[in-house]
Amino acid sequence: MKDSSKIIYPARQPLTGEIQVPGDKSISHRAVMLGAIAKGTTRIQNFLMGGDCLSTIDCFRRLGVQIDVNAAEGQVAVHGKGMHGLGVYPGAGNAQKTGGPDGDLKEAVLDTGNSGTTTRLISGILAGQDFPSLLSGDVSLNTRPMNRILEPLTQMGAHIRSVHGNGCAPLSIRPGQLHGIHSRTKVASAQVKSAILLAGLFADSPTSVTEPSLSRDHTELMLRGFGADVSSIINEDGTATASIRPCRELYAQDIVVPGDISSAAYCIAAALIVPGSSLLIRNVGINPTRAGFLSVCRDMGGDITLLNERTTGGEPSADLLVRHSSLHGVTIEGSLIPTLIDELPMAAVLAAFAEGTTVIRDAAELKVKESDRIVTVTENLLAMGGDVTPTADGMIIRGGSPLHGAVIDSHLDHRIAMSFAVAALAADGESRISGANCVDISFPGFYDYFN
Ligand code: S3P
Repeated sequence: MKDSSKIIYPARQPLTGEIQVPGDKSISHRAVMLGAIAKGTTRIQNFLMGGDCLSTIDCFRRLGVQIDVNAAEGQVAVHGKGMHGLGVYPGAGNAQKTGGPDGDLKEAVLDTGNSGTTTRLISGILAGQDFPSLLSGDVSLNTRPMNRILEPLTQMGAHIRSVHGNGCAPLSIRPGQLHGIHSRTKVASAQVKSAILLAGLFADSPTSVTEPSLSRDHTELMLRGFGADVSSIINEDGTATASIRPCRELYAQDIVVPGDISSAAYCIAAALIVPGSSLLIRNVGINPTRAGFLSVCRDMGGDITLLNERTTGGEPSADLLVRHSSLHGVTIEGSLIPTLIDELPMAAVLAAFAEGTTVIRDAAELKVKESDRIVTVTENLLAMGGDVTPTADGMIIRGGSPLHGAVIDSHLDHRIAMSFAVAALAADGESRISGANCVDISFPGFYDYFN
């Protein structure tokens, strides 16, 4: 990604008015993936035209799926190839001879960019195909842990391996007959759960996944919408199990993607900390497996009202009215963590503006995101004069003293760039954010919203 930097000045006036944030990243990815292996044309509205979701589109085009994109209107049409219609399409410029034991068999060479979701979910689908593939991403993606999907997929009979043997991408996938398993994951990760469930579509017996607590359930909801036989339960001990039966056919759907609560989080936080603000954010997805940031903000004393609550395609959404509030510290831990995992950098920044101490624990997953977010949040909060101590699985933030402008290193991590752009709005003096354009991964036009 090209380096870029951006100067952010403290807000000179309250944030007021109405806005709408771009479509949900997780749901956009899944709509393309399921649309690609469904029968018929899946039409998606309010699709997120961010870098990660465009990587997913690119991968499926290379697998022979016709995908029409109307970027200005946020519309995507995925002309599904059915469960067994993906292939290696030399015309897409991606096929190469494997040179391996399969001799002439061509492999699909796919670039998943910066996107962990693309890489992990597509692996589940590719494990069930009758052609080989090679997946690789950018420098950050290729350092992220993949053993978490390699192990269960291998247990299912997939031939999948880390090319350099380091548990990271590039990943090589060869055809293999998949069998249903019962998998127990160590972390509550929707990406891992989804990879297993998607592979389960192609298995010869039912598959289930039990995770320590419920992670985002968009895959289960959408699979059900496309006609798959999926069930989910919360067990008595708080673990969550999702099960899927092998599937002959999925059926195209019309999908309206709600606004991304992970993107709304920056607007919510900005309105909470810039004095005098009152902001209406329309059409935000509030799926309970994603809405942890809302409960944390409210626990901190944040004034957030949910208006016009509705459900579309199984996904709840609402308009959020957010007013400037005086905040106090809280503890963020346990099963709440997966419901705001991507919003923890923003929550940590918010904590610096709150009176008292905020403790974030049980969040070691922060270390394996687009950057080590325990390190990158700590480093940048300290640069702004914040009082923060990193821990093995989170952070302790002692808030309430003013932050000052600083040079912020985004480490090309979109969530770090945006969290600290918001901090800069309520700090004294200007800040400079390096690698500022990385926001395009999930929130194209982010800086314009604030202008
Ligand atoms: C995502 C799941 C989360 C999240 C990521 C998107 C998804 O990752 O951090 O940005 O769409 O499934 P994990 O499931 O690995 O925690």
